[in-house]
Amino acid sequence: ADMRGNYIARRIMPVVDFPKPGITFRDITPALQDPRALRNSIDLFAERYDNMGLTQVVAIEARGFIFSAALADRLGIGLTLIRKAGKLPREVYSTSYTLEYGDDILELHKDSLKARDKVIIMDDMLATGGTMTAAVELVRNSPATIVETAFVCELLHLGGRKEMDRIGVNSYAICAFDE
Ligand code: PRP
Ligand code: MG
Repeated sequence: ADMRGNYIARRIMPVVDFPKPGITFRDITPALQDPRALRNSIDLFAERYDNMGLTQVVAIEARGFIFSAALADRLGIGLTLIRKAGKLPREVYSTSYTLEYGDDILELHKDSLKARDKVIIMDDMLATGGTMTAAVELVRNSPATIVETAFVCELLHLGGRKEMDRIGVNSYAICAFDE
């Protein structure tokens, strides 16, 4: 893997038994605080997505927003928000999904993406893939084209990549953990 990916991975801190026993939480806050890790993550995404003709970065609340906003600005394109239930004020597509630690609902404004849009959907972490599967489903309600899904980090043992394969969407992550 890219040295810059390793640099980021070393700054993602495992927290055992958070938020529930048996779950190891991957805390990205140290990577965000490290200026080089933050810059490296956006550089890696920008190198991959430059000149791909993307029109929007679609971002998943909450931690997906951080990297997506910086990347969209770097690419000179727009930012489309997928938010948790009840936050978007106009008509929405809505879908429920299951997380490692509970159920939730994601929403996307119905008029936010057009047929000319070519997008990636971004999040900080691919774990079971439940969140991103819900996000893909939302964007597939729109006429936009999904190029791929993009993550800072994937947790290989939790099966998210297989889940992305199953729903027929490519996934890219700048770093990965085995356990
Ligand atoms: C976390 C993480 C991803 C998702 C990954 O979000 O930021 O969005 O879980 O898990 P999955 O692949 O098993 O679905 P979470 O909803 O916990 O919180 P956030 O609002 O802080 O992003
Ligand atoms: Mg999240």
